[in-house]
Amino acid sequence: MTTRFDPVEMRSRFPALAQEVHGRPLVYLDSAATSQKPRAVLDVIDEYYEHDNANVHRGIHELSRRATVAYEEARTKVARWINAADDSELVWTRGTTEAINLVAMAWGLDNVAEGDEILISVLEHHSNIVPWQILAARTKAKLRYIELDDQGRLDLSTLDEVLTERTKILAISHVSNSLGTINPVRTLAEAAHRVGAVVMVDGAQGAVHTQVDVQALGVDFYAFSGHKMCGPTGIGALWAKKELLEAMAPYQGGGEMIHIVGRDASTWASVPHKFEAGTPNIAGAVGMGAAVDFLTDVGVDSIVEHERALMEYAMDRVRAVPGITVYGPESLDERSAVISFTLGDAHPHDISTILDAEGVAVRAGHHCAQLVMKHFEVAATARASFYLYNTTDDVDRLIEGLGKVREIFA
Ligand SMILES: Cc1ncc(COP(=O)(O)O)c(C=O)c1O
Repeated sequence: MTTRFDPVEMRSRFPALAQEVHGRPLVYLDSAATSQKPRAVLDVIDEYYEHDNANVHRGIHELSRRATVAYEEARTKVARWINAADDSELVWTRGTTEAINLVAMAWGLDNVAEGDEILISVLEHHSNIVPWQILAARTKAKLRYIELDDQGRLDLSTLDEVLTERTKILAISHVSNSLGTINPVRTLAEAAHRVGAVVMVDGAQGAVHTQVDVQALGVDFYAFSGHKMCGPTGIGALWAKKELLEAMAPYQGGGEMIHIVGRDASTWASVPHKFEAGTPNIAGAVGMGAAVDFLTDVGVDSIVEHERALMEYAMDRVRAVPGITVYGPESLDERSAVISFTLGDAHPHDISTILDAEGVAVRAGHHCAQLVMKHFEVAATARASFYLYNTTDDVDRLIEGLGKVREIFA
């Protein structure tokens, strides 16, 4: 039986949230950049280092055995979290960025050639733009874009023009970090598959607030990061269909990823280890597994319900601030827990500085989405992003802080 979700109690499970900043209790509204970590995850990482620390897949001593079991059990947890058909479809990476680069290089260099097209969107984080620019330059392929409408949603009216028989890969975010737009990934994947393209999803913001089912989404690659979902930094994963991983060349060479090494050539370990050269981030993987345990224990339905109610409250209050412009989809059905905004003539950096003095942490800048900023003809926005530990009091503190911004810029 699940107990009722209590956001105040939830907040108390995150030690970093218990502090004061500039003399005020911290209000952390920057979870889209990185989430805070619950005590439960921190304890598992400590426990691992204090008792089981050893290298994996190498030793036959007890600690190495324990470390290997912990590392592989974490893989199973994370693979189940996204409903992978098999644990071996989950490759550990440093995060979303490395996972996308892995696909761009290990899959891209062998499958994309001159005259082919790579399709992305204007909504993407730089991590899902730059690797494709590099691949396009190396292969002489053409990079094409799905444009945005005035609410920062993908403009699918021109999809037939940009998604063609020449498209080899569609690389698209599940959820935008800069605006919170939730993309219709399943529909896009069906359209891409009809023209024979494979589909890579940047799930950095997608696998965070709810449980993702990669099989139901019908995609081929899904990349995500541990640190955005209550796990540690420096760990993430690439999920891919097994047949794709098996057909792909290694991304990096080194220890762990080989079967036999000869003088002139080597053979590769089976997947997923073929893509995990060198000593991996074992504690990170264990921590990401613990984050999945934590989120599962809290209950995905409770998280979704809480964040929806919080966003309804936050959007109403933020929209009522005189002089504010909120970017992104109007409907909460199409928006994740992100509010990107500008306020009159105040520069977003000034907004963030004034809020920081009040103990309220928001992000200001282009959010690694310069094309989105260009689309809305702004240099930057301020962004408040919410997670399971945020409360309506946090929203009230944000509104109070925005009142200070208005006073100063009046
Ligand atoms: C949508 C999106 N894609 C990619 C990334 C990159 O993730 P990481 O820095 O964890 O590799 C982020 C991080 O902010 C993101 O929000």
